[in-house]
Amino acid sequence: MVKQLFSPLQLLLIFLCCSTALSQPPAQAPAAPPPAQAPVALPPPVVQSMAPGPASSGPPNITAILEKAGHFTTFIRLLRSTKMDSDIYTQLNTSSQGLTVFAPDDYAFGNLSAGALNAYNDDQKSQLVKFHLISSYFSLPEFQTVSNPVSTEAGTKVEYPLNVTISGSQVNLTSGFVNTTVSNTVYTNGHLAVYAVDQVLLPRRFFVTPSPAPAPAPSKPVKESPSTPVSTADASVQASGAMPVIHHALSAVTFLSSFVAALNLCV
Ligand SMILES: *[C@@H]1O[C@H](CO)[C@@H](O)[C@H](O)[C@H]1NC(C)=O
Ligand SMILES: *[C@@H]1O[C@H](CO)[C@@H](O)[C@H](O)[C@H]1NC(C)=O
Ligand SMILES: *[C@@H]1O[C@H](CO)[C@@H](O)[C@H](O)[C@H]1NC(C)=O
Ligand SMILES: *[C@@H]1O[C@H](CO)[C@@H](O)[C@H](O)[C@H]1NC(C)=O
Ligand SMILES: *[C@@H]1O[C@H](CO)[C@@H](O)[C@H](O)[C@H]1NC(C)=O
Ligand SMILES: *[C@@H]1O[C@H](CO)[C@@H](O)[C@H](O)[C@H]1NC(C)=O
Repeated sequence: MVKQLFSPLQLLLIFLCCSTALSQPPAQAPAAPPPAQAPVALPPPVVQSMAPGPASSGPPNITAILEKAGHFTTFIRLLRSTKMDSDIYTQLNTSSQGLTVFAPDDYAFGNLSAGALNAYNDDQKSQLVKFHLISSYFSLPEFQTVSNPVSTEAGTKVEYPLNVTISGSQVNLTSGFVNTTVSNTVYTNGHLAVYAVDQVLLPRRFFVTPSPAPAPAPSKPVKESPSTPVSTADASVQASGAMPVIHHALSAVTFLSSFVAALNLCV
């Protein structure tokens, strides 16, 4: 007699076994998203929202705004020499996200060592300006909920990290090399925000040779991690890449043995 392949009891056991195995949390369970926070009320900053010149159609003009505010001659010169002034104009005309500009005033540039700015090549000057731009509009209170590091237009937040922290009405910025604070709101219209900062934000990358990009998402340590000591950065990248595979193999083994056990129970 051919034995019936699965009795109803077996099916039930297999089902239970499967659902238990499947309901085990995977190793890389995505972290629960942070609870959506209602924006916390912040002491209102002193905001001088001002329309530069006669209300004209088209996006606001960054250099005109800075000229009107005064004490931004070096930054304006940089914006022009790097052509970021017209780039910003285009961004404001085409982006729905808006733009945030951290504008170092002339005193901030005066704090750079003599000749520091001239020592940078055109690419570096361009990167320097872009490090002061975030491709989204942020009101000051919105920095309270920002996730650090933020991405600037200079590059990814891994290559060009910039942290923005806020306490009370003080907004601090750090590149890991330079710490500064927002001293003043120069302009805001809900789409473009221009904040004066006390220091030129020098990217850390300008001073340290970039280390190899870290593994995208370091997986949680697996109990049965390879015992071979991992010494070089390259090896650690490879090892962490291999871990999910090992873990999945182990899960498969665990699952198979449960499956066999369930079958055995019913035989
Ligand atoms: C922006 O303003 C500057 C003066 O600061 C002017 O030279 C320039 O032509 C203006 N750009 C545009 C696109 O209107
Ligand atoms: C702004 O963008 C529109 C298209 O969205 C274009 O027609 C217009 O010429 C642009 N204006 C400027 C000043 O670049
Ligand atoms: C920046 O320069 C100002 C004077 O212009 C000075 O008071 C301040 O200490 C300087 N800050 C740094 C970090 O050098
Ligand atoms: C901002 O920086 C100042 C020092 O410049 C420090 O005293 C303050 O605690 C910092 N605040 C935040 C929110 O990081
Ligand atoms: C920036 O913030 C991130 C996340 O809080 C932190 O890991 C990093 O050390 C900070 N960097 C600096 C330079 O403060
Ligand atoms: C920036 O501030 C951090 C603490 O917030 C401090 O550890 C670091 O030394 C400061 N860096 C500079 C260049 O002042």
